[in-house]
Amino acid sequence: MAESLKTRIGSLELKNPILSASGTFGYGQEVESFVDPSIYGGIVGKSISLEPRKGNPLPRTWETASGMLNSIGLQNPGIDAFISDPAYLPRMSAYDTRIVVNLVGDTIDEYVEMARRLDAESAVDALELNISCPNCPLGGMEFGIEAEATRRLVEAVRENFSRAIIAKLTPNVTDVIPIAQAAASGGADALSLVNTYVGMAVEWRQRRPRLGGITGGLSGPAIKPLALRLVWLVAQNCDVPVIGIGGIMNTDDVLEFIVAGASAVQIGTVQFVRPRVAVDILDGMKAALEETGAGSIADLVGTLETSGEAITVRQAGSEEEVEDAAGTS
Ligand SMILES: Cc1cc2nc3c(=O)[nH]c(=O)nc-3n(C[C@H](O)[C@H](O)[C@H](O)COP(=O)(O)O)c2cc1C
Repeated sequence: MAESLKTRIGSLELKNPILSASGTFGYGQEVESFVDPSIYGGIVGKSISLEPRKGNPLPRTWETASGMLNSIGLQNPGIDAFISDPAYLPRMSAYDTRIVVNLVGDTIDEYVEMARRLDAESAVDALELNISCPNCPLGGMEFGIEAEATRRLVEAVRENFSRAIIAKLTPNVTDVIPIAQAAASGGADALSLVNTYVGMAVEWRQRRPRLGGITGGLSGPAIKPLALRLVWLVAQNCDVPVIGIGGIMNTDDVLEFIVAGASAVQIGTVQFVRPRVAVDILDGMKAALEETGAGSIADLVGTLETSGEAITVRQAGSEEEVEDAAGTS
């Protein structure tokens, strides 16, 4: 059965398609008392920059309807400490899972410098380029909103890193497809999407924003339908594997992304509420494979059928169902 959960992201084979999303899992150590990081197909650390970053002013998070806003601002120890401090890469390398290092920079040279140094670290299985952070005015966002800048960045990192490269895309653009295609043509092995949607929360009595950074990134179930659409669009228009991210809470959500075209997924915000959720999702995926009779998860990727008649299954809580329960129909 374990075999059937295997998936492939370009050159990178994963024992299962569940990865932790950057910024929601620390570097593994922070969650060890809740869940064994080794059960994941891969873990993605919080974004790392060339120099340490202090992050944004407090408060940094705000709960919203079906989601949360964050304005952490990429607080991190910087690449030197990440590589040498026993709390970071050395500890991650002991886990039996793929190690993905998420990088953020202000310039192409910064990304290249970090990529070159990480290429020498055999514990690093892949890089994820954060070209999509909504909380950093100088940060990677500029690359992710312009196709040619995206292509040049990925190409430069490609020349300096020999293993898998994942480009993490922002949903905060008019059309994500040209940017996805540019990342692929620059040499990305896979695309991950989405990062958070820019949003804001206000306390009107004090006339104040709720977040120290004023605006923040929206994540959680509130964004799932938006993310699902973008994953579906990109999977149809790009030749490289897609990693789906956005509002995943359970096994059904994972399978929705997989059927829509994702070869793997990352789980983020849900882990703050249910830190052991990956255990349940993995059990649920084995059961789902049995239910569908599919030989493997890979057989389900991109199997969404959009032609023909719409399905007639009623949504829980819909008007018809409420009427049924009341015996009125
Ligand atoms: C508190 C918090 C911190 C995050 N930090 C990062 C980060 O450092 N780098 C990054 O690429 N994405 C970061 N993200 C975005 C997540 O990796 C993910 O793309 C997003 O939250 C959508 O997934 P979700 O709805 O499952 O949380 C962060 C998200 C949250 C909630």
